[in-house]
Amino acid sequence: MPKDTTNHPDLLAGAHVDAAAYDRMYAESIENPEAFWAEHGKRIDWIKPFTKVKDTSFAHDDVHVRWFEDGTLNVAENCIDRHLATKADQTAIIFEPDSPEEEAQHITYKQLHEEVGRFANVLKELGVQKGDRVVLYLPMIPEAAYAMLACARLGAIHSVVFAGFSPDALASRVNDSQAKVVVTSDGAPRGGRITELKDNVNKALLHCDDHVKCLVVKRTGQQVAWVADRDVWYDDIAANVSTFCHAAEVGAEDPLFILYTSGSTGKPKGVVHSSGGYLAYAAMTHQYTFDYHDGDVFWCTADVGWVTGHSYIVYGPLANGATTLMFEGVPTYPDAGRFWAVCEKHKVTQFYTAPTAIRLLMGQSDEFVTKYDLSSLKLLGSVGEPINPEAWNWYNEVVGKGKCPIVDTWWQTETGGHLITPLPGATALKPGSATKPFFGVQPVLLDATSGEEIHETEAEGVLCMKDSWPGQMRTLWGDPDRFVQAYFSDYKGYYFTGDGCRRDADGYYWITGRVDDVINVSGHRMGTAEVESALVAHDAVSEAAVVGYPHELKGQGIYCYVTLMSDETPSDELVKELQTWVRKEIGPIAKPDVIQFAPGLPKTRSGKIMRRILRKIAENDFGSLGDTSTLADPSVVDDLIANRANK
Ligand code: PRX
Repeated sequence: MPKDTTNHPDLLAGAHVDAAAYDRMYAESIENPEAFWAEHGKRIDWIKPFTKVKDTSFAHDDVHVRWFEDGTLNVAENCIDRHLATKADQTAIIFEPDSPEEEAQHITYKQLHEEVGRFANVLKELGVQKGDRVVLYLPMIPEAAYAMLACARLGAIHSVVFAGFSPDALASRVNDSQAKVVVTSDGAPRGGRITELKDNVNKALLHCDDHVKCLVVKRTGQQVAWVADRDVWYDDIAANVSTFCHAAEVGAEDPLFILYTSGSTGKPKGVVHSSGGYLAYAAMTHQYTFDYHDGDVFWCTADVGWVTGHSYIVYGPLANGATTLMFEGVPTYPDAGRFWAVCEKHKVTQFYTAPTAIRLLMGQSDEFVTKYDLSSLKLLGSVGEPINPEAWNWYNEVVGKGKCPIVDTWWQTETGGHLITPLPGATALKPGSATKPFFGVQPVLLDATSGEEIHETEAEGVLCMKDSWPGQMRTLWGDPDRFVQAYFSDYKGYYFTGDGCRRDADGYYWITGRVDDVINVSGHRMGTAEVESALVAHDAVSEAAVVGYPHELKGQGIYCYVTLMSDETPSDELVKELQTWVRKEIGPIAKPDVIQFAPGLPKTRSGKIMRRILRKIAENDFGSLGDTSTLADPSVVDDLIANRANK
């Protein structure tokens, strides 16, 4: 359990919001959301200003989420053009390559304008129009941001697929979104190794419509297998197009992007985000949570393949005219000092990373941190999973020298931006707590069984939201029924986050982790059902059940119970083979940590696997298995305990 000691950092002096301002603004945002958001909607340049602010309902039979709905805008213009008058020569993006030997790039707003215009014209040459889907499968290079913004410029909808995903995972996303084009690169350097991105796309496209084009950006210069008529080099088209591209006028509610994320079932969910509300919310949270000021150098270490990269590398910072850093590499290459070397080199002012990275680095000598000058840092951020007090304290003391507030930001792919987070000028911190709601956000704790709202301040329950905020997802791509089913059905009248949570006597929120079949591995969200489908696709496997268990570095590890076909024999080789298999089917992040062969799984008489019991066994917690009498065959449990795989 995180320790509950209030830590009063030196709140950032001169911050946008102090404690009194937070209380006042929060009250306004709840009491009069129309007026509050009408004001904050103005942080965007609208082509046609909105007259309607909010039209939202969480009622189960009438779920809808619309913000600023009659306004029109262009997201790329908001992120680039409107800054040109004052910031043309300011750096918009600092690109730090995988290898420290390779020179960093500083891309100014003027250059960004040209690069994005050119990229948009290249996409146009490939037939991309407003509303079309474009899948981006790219390394963390500036072209990833250019491509996202180029889609936005045309009003096309991007769907970024994390470059660590397998060809199969990529193919299912290309097919589900019916994308016209996949943008990739020849290879992706990461941690001194190369991922064969173009090769992966070649494999994926074997399972996709013949009309899908592949646009290839040159990154490594390596040889790649080529399919004539389908594949084109970016440079070949780019050489013949203009750097100016007209910005399409899109509706506030038109989709800006789709981002696939894991749910309780095997099929990833295509989360759809809007143009107007999303951008306003990403920009606003970026400004307040990180106390962004002009001149800051903001670094979010996420990959653009995740929502954190969308909102806090690209859209939030650029909408605010910030300098945002894109890092292609990993925290431990060439050594465990790389993050801090980059902070020193580029004089980073706000640094935002995941607890899994912090835990990894705190296991190394502190000298990797202390040998760099980190005096430019004024704020540290954390995202993706609960941060344990040891990691919080190390981050605070060794990296922040006790001077930098730590913002532990709780949010989700679905929420578009932070929902529960400290504000660095306003909120006294408690290590391990995401603290208080952002403006306009109304968290509630419900009793998991009755669905009743718990009104006492001190409480524990499932975390839901009572009302909408502009950055909220709008639907699931091609599956509006699943949208209602997944988020608004278990607890009628509320948005259900899937997280459990505790509220302390001061009204601070402490996320306790997922209450559904989603696990959080190194800050990456994964459906246990996805791993199960991958396992049963192997010839030797008859049945599989997957649960999470506490893992020192990753937060949660992946524990798989596998029943083999009757003619198969358990062996260490088969464990390795299944690990490699899942890695190949989904991607390296899904590689199982533990595989336990189980002749039988604990099932109810109606055939439902009792995961609660499997979770307890994986956690080594045999004392509290609960009632096993409803099992079809209770002896299965004894066998599972006796043969528990060593970790
Ligand atoms: O369980 C929560 C956890 O990550 C989930 C959302 O995952 P994803 O959609 O991949 O987005 C991750 C980045 C926004 C949540 O349901 N989570 C995220 N941030 C925190 C967290 N758990 C505890 N503390 C956090 N700060």
